[in-house]
Amino acid sequence: MPQSATQWGRTPSLPPTHYVDSRIYTDQTLFEEEQEKIFEKVWSLVCHESEVPNAYDFRRCQHMSGKELLVIRGKDMKIRTFYNQCPHRGNVIAFEPSGNAKRLTCIFHLWSFDTKGNCVEITREKEGFQDRLSKKDVGLREVKTDLSAGGFVWVNVDDDCGPLEEFIDGSLDCFQHEFSTKPLEIISYHKAIVPSNYKLWHDTNRELYHEYLHRHNRMVAVMQPGYFDRLYHIFGNGHMSADPMDTRYDAYEGYGGEQRKLGWPGGGDTIHKFSDLFPTMTFNLRPPALRIDTMVPLGPDKTIIEYRGLGIKGDTPAERAERFCDHNAVWGPFGRNLSEDQIAVVGQMMAIKTGRDNSYILHGREENGAHDDICLRHYYSEWSKRMGRSAADPFNEQAAVAAE
Ligand code: FES
Ligand SMILES: [Fe+2]
Repeated sequence: MPQSATQWGRTPSLPPTHYVDSRIYTDQTLFEEEQEKIFEKVWSLVCHESEVPNAYDFRRCQHMSGKELLVIRGKDMKIRTFYNQCPHRGNVIAFEPSGNAKRLTCIFHLWSFDTKGNCVEITREKEGFQDRLSKKDVGLREVKTDLSAGGFVWVNVDDDCGPLEEFIDGSLDCFQHEFSTKPLEIISYHKAIVPSNYKLWHDTNRELYHEYLHRHNRMVAVMQPGYFDRLYHIFGNGHMSADPMDTRYDAYEGYGGEQRKLGWPGGGDTIHKFSDLFPTMTFNLRPPALRIDTMVPLGPDKTIIEYRGLGIKGDTPAERAERFCDHNAVWGPFGRNLSEDQIAVVGQMMAIKTGRDNSYILHGREENGAHDDICLRHYYSEWSKRMGRSAADPFNEQAAVAAE
């Protein structure tokens, strides 16, 4: 039945683990706290090693905290990451999105740096600084960098962080064969700036029952045998993965009734599997292509979502074309999947950011299978722990209301 104003504002009759206060998606103070307590503390994936394949290649990336980074492959073929910021008077070092340079020279006063972050040139150093400051005192700010299986480049701006492997906690083990049989290579990149909260996008990636939204997914997955039997697996630090299942491409009329023939080395030809890592990363394999989502939250209601498509290094031109075509048919900017998801999360944000009356978002499904909300509850348990606030009651108001 319709709800009165009083009923609408009432806390749901579910345990507080099974809903969140919608203000965690809209509140500016909470967003700034997330930057400090989450984005600046966890490992985040910024690109793939194939985006800097050769010695001296560099690529600009934006860290989820908003900081500009430079990912560089040195002469020793090691990948390092630095702030894209000159230690002299703070100018950006690289303006180009990517390139190849033995030396990185700031355009402002021509200080130069090598690919290990050492300052190698200060113009008129002796005349200007005598013995008070020298090149060794002013290198670039290095950011902890590591590679995970599959060649993904991860960074952490917290110098005191634990190891990457500990952070991932086995949540990518389900891709063990697919990420190690042959090297991967980037085949597609696009990004969207979406007027919505980053958590809403991630929520959508880690629950399957929104697939009713996608006609393509309904046909090739939801209506197929075994779909509802898939179980979720949760890992430390808020991560999850799901049991794989075969995608029935032949059930979608747009594919001419044909199953996929080009598979993925180390994996099945049509197997679909995915992992979502707290707070902003998604790995989604549906051969013949792999999709990776990462996010840069710009504010509570504005998020950059970066989408990478990956194939196999050494693909023939025909294989590469097939992977690219299939990736874009589903996950490209005009594909059958992402734009529909974007409409949904923008719609959520449009509604929940209006008005001052409190409302709740439910994560209450319990059905021990593909449509359970366990992974959303797991995500917000991690969020609550890191923030030191309950996602269901972020401003600690419920006790006061109960006492009235
Ligand atoms: S700001 Fe870079 S050289 Fe001066
Ligand atoms: Fe979706």
